[in-house]
Amino acid sequence: MQRLIPVLNSDHVPLHLISVINTLLTAAKEISHRLHQGSLAGTLGSTLDENIQGETQKKLDIVSNQLIKNMLLETNLVHAVASEEEDDVVMGNPDAKYLVAFDPLDGSSNIDINGSVGTIFTILEKPDHAAEGKELFLQTGDEQIAAGYILYGPSTMLVMTTGKGVRAYTLDHTVGEFLLTVEKLEIPKTTQEFAINMSNQRFWAEPMKHYIADLLSGSEGPRAKNFNMRWNAAMVSDVHRVLTRSGIFMYPADCKNSDKPCKLRLLYEANPMSFLVEQAGGRSSTGYERIMSLQPTDIHQRVSVIMGSKEEVDECLGYYKKIPCTRFDSP
Ligand code: AHG
Ligand code: MN
Ligand code: MN
Repeated sequence: MQRLIPVLNSDHVPLHLISVINTLLTAAKEISHRLHQGSLAGTLGSTLDENIQGETQKKLDIVSNQLIKNMLLETNLVHAVASEEEDDVVMGNPDAKYLVAFDPLDGSSNIDINGSVGTIFTILEKPDHAAEGKELFLQTGDEQIAAGYILYGPSTMLVMTTGKGVRAYTLDHTVGEFLLTVEKLEIPKTTQEFAINMSNQRFWAEPMKHYIADLLSGSEGPRAKNFNMRWNAAMVSDVHRVLTRSGIFMYPADCKNSDKPCKLRLLYEANPMSFLVEQAGGRSSTGYERIMSLQPTDIHQRVSVIMGSKEEVDECLGYYKKIPCTRFDSP
């Protein structure tokens, strides 16, 4: 039935990597505890600060960031960390080989409404070529050696991959451990459910406008079937739904704010989620290119995201092939 943590039993996963992952999980248990305490922990609400991306930081964004960063650096197994809430990379042990990038609290606008949030992480190795600072992290998604998320929902779950499929674990508070609850997550190839922030509709490029219009026209439209829509405003819980029961999740480029044509970050949101989605048999693209093939140029770089059930993502990408993009270049 249920088995104690994952990677401890996995072949081919080096012990030091297991220790790094277990450290992330120790931080996640503490974050889970604080989230479940809610107002009782005195950590709801915003700070007066903004992160480097101009977003107001929630108190729990900061707390989660500190917990994960400090615990990882204390292991001496981590060469450097990069976080949504850190302007620059933070260096650890010069002799260590692991690099960890993370979004300490994803969907943090949900904190104060007692909605689901998550932590996203990805682990890379120090590159062979000489690199320092942020250059260390400018690796394609294909170079990830492990990635996953912790979903803080009605139950706290870990979903992760080391490149050999996707497993899911549920935090058992009675023993304080993540127990294996799904041996192999696989995304159904087809779906009748999509996730997108519809309020951005007028700012999308033409291919996305046409694709969504065809989904909305349902059984009377060219797709000849009805579609349902869901949006939790936290990528972790939206993608978790896709991994669990199928779907297509999109945060495409838009022209709402010309300084910020895309919302989601490549390094610690799009790449780890793409790794999971592909390992579960799904597809992940910007609309024009496979996300995990992109060569990053900055640790906080943003990217257009379309991911989920393979055949549905392919349907969507068909619109990018056939409809000229008049308002943007390829994002
Ligand atoms: P974060 O809280 O880490 O900044 O990420 C929020 C992201 C992502 O989780 C979610 O899919 C999206 O922002 C929600 O955006 P909207 O506010 O446009 O719904
Ligand atoms: Mn996020
Ligand atoms: Mn975040």
